[in-house]
Amino acid sequence: MHQRMFDVSWDAFSALPVAEKTPYLMQPDGAPFHTLFAQQFDVALLGRLAALSNAIRQIAKTRSGTLFLQDLICHKRAMIYFSQPSSRTFLSFLSACQILGVQTGEVRDMATSSEFKGESKEDSVRTFSSYFDMIIMRSPEKGLAERMAWALSNSDRPLPLINAGSGKDQHPTQALLDIYTLLRSFERNGGLRDRTVVFVGDLARGRTVRSLSLLLTQYPNIRQIFVAPQSLQIGEDIVQALEAKKVAFHLTDDFHASIPAADAIYMTRIQDEWDHDKGESAAVDISRFTFGADELKLLKPTGIIMHPLPRRSEIAVCVDSDPRAMYWRQMRNGMWIRAALIAETFGCGKRIHDYYSQNL
Ligand code: NCD
Repeated sequence: MHQRMFDVSWDAFSALPVAEKTPYLMQPDGAPFHTLFAQQFDVALLGRLAALSNAIRQIAKTRSGTLFLQDLICHKRAMIYFSQPSSRTFLSFLSACQILGVQTGEVRDMATSSEFKGESKEDSVRTFSSYFDMIIMRSPEKGLAERMAWALSNSDRPLPLINAGSGKDQHPTQALLDIYTLLRSFERNGGLRDRTVVFVGDLARGRTVRSLSLLLTQYPNIRQIFVAPQSLQIGEDIVQALEAKKVAFHLTDDFHASIPAADAIYMTRIQDEWDHDKGESAAVDISRFTFGADELKLLKPTGIIMHPLPRRSEIAVCVDSDPRAMYWRQMRNGMWIRAALIAETFGCGKRIHDYYSQNL
């Protein structure tokens, strides 16, 4: 059921479990209004977004299709507000907006914004809402996107907000592109069910793994293996979420033993920007958590290798030319599914499907 965010105080809203927050975030037709958490997407909505992404990428192949897409929401403007480094997420949102004709503004360097003069985040977002129709934001602060979404919904310009990465906690749109990549990779051999997904690297501080792990619990019989040195293992909250959903999972530090069963290997980098003490991450031996020529030999012919990127040395460059290396295609999938998400948020998914069925 759709609920209105201005019917609830911030304290009451923020105290709710995620499942009870979800109705406040969705539109009556089931599309998201605010995108804050991976868990607000169910299998039906993920399928709907994947199908819309497929339509958009086909339509965008021709000049007439490109012009159709660019006309769709040219009356909307989006603010891309990133107070944390980004290449892919920023550029893919920018490209997604360009595909749909949405005009964009950006703040990426807080030294150039009035926050530098002491303006509160609430006032910054309120300011953006005077000029724009959507806010896409990334922040190092856990829960900030949620607080800003609530503030927007309670302002006189209640516009949608998309969380493009919040602290160590969530990266819901990365989980969308990861699921889209898995759906496409397995569509010809049985779909996203009865699979083993192996997560490797800094699982304690990598938000992409956390969001994807939660989404995977919705697909039938997906076993999750978490491979990390003990100090970087997946958080207890994710372990509890998997237990509650009766998902088969396993924590280990033995990467080689985990590879042969894998249908997908999800590599991640060390997130040393979160170190409390200088050199904390450098003290961890990560040499056993890298993927190179030896690991390729252990991987099934149908297994795929994913990475949210950026990578450091955890995937050797020689792996890039193997057909099972999916990370560059995964990155491009992000642009299409972010375009689909923006289109659904602004209510034009049906028009895109209608164009597709009439013209392609
Ligand atoms: C990830 C992130 O920002 O969490 N990058 C991305 O959005 N593709 C992963 C990372 O930075 O390691």
